[in-house]
Amino acid sequence: MKQLAAGELTVHIGSDEHKELFCRSFIDSHRPYDPRDWPWPDLDEMSLARLRAIPIWTLALEVEMGAGVMLAKFAKHEPDPLVREALELQAYEEDRHGRILQCMVDRYALKVEPNVPPQEPTRGAFIDFGYNECVDSFGGFGIFRLARDARILPEALTSLFVRVLVEEARHIVFFVNWVAWDRYRRGLRGAILQALPTLLSYGAAVMRRVKGGAEMQGGDNGQDTLDLFGDVLKDLTPARFVRACIEENDRYMAAFDPRLLRPRVIPALACFALALLESIERIRAAFRKPERRSTTG
Ligand SMILES: [Fe+2]
Ligand SMILES: [Fe+2]
Repeated sequence: MKQLAAGELTVHIGSDEHKELFCRSFIDSHRPYDPRDWPWPDLDEMSLARLRAIPIWTLALEVEMGAGVMLAKFAKHEPDPLVREALELQAYEEDRHGRILQCMVDRYALKVEPNVPPQEPTRGAFIDFGYNECVDSFGGFGIFRLARDARILPEALTSLFVRVLVEEARHIVFFVNWVAWDRYRRGLRGAILQALPTLLSYGAAVMRRVKGGAEMQGGDNGQDTLDLFGDVLKDLTPARFVRACIEENDRYMAAFDPRLLRPRVIPALACFALALLESIERIRAAFRKPERRSTTG
């Protein structure tokens, strides 16, 4: 199987050359920093209220902390030294994401009650986590862009998180290449043999996120949240959200070596959904026009 790219810019997926490429590009793009050194800004009352009303902090902390521990243990089982180094680096970065969130929780007195369930450090756990990240990052790219454009929080704070999104983009590109390489070394070498587990894994990841989202909506601060975000959410439509996700995903993915695989399933589904949503919007607009004419006639 080959990753399609222009001219001679191809690499055989599953080969040693591919392994060198996806590991080296991941390791070489690592940036050292400590979130305790970040210039965390002071926030006004409205910004603090908005930040505290965002309902994801407990879950985000649990995911990042759990992933750091699970990945660090999983990496120890990897016999290939270069792949092991890359996995250890991702474990370090996930743990650092947890420390970024902890800095924010401490600084802005966010209410979190993390309860990190112990995860078995297995290949299956890493694969589930990887596909979850592919789904979460795609949505996260769009949400972050819309939130930043709408100035929901001060730029001094949101700009700090750009590097986190860049790291998540690096993680999902590393993951889709690792999983293709890993399946190849296990004998899953045809396009169908690779596509089938990929689709099943994405299906399971989407189901996990739908279930998690439904549980989160069971919270009791719905009206308060609407009051805090109403003015910036009023122009948000499903099409605008999906379009932001697609555009941002394209922008982040353009930064990687063209020979590397990228997550493709969620962006393809999103493009299909966007075409559908835009058609609905056009039909609605077409029905609205005659009404307006009749009131002026
Ligand atoms: Fe992370
Ligand atoms: Fe990640």
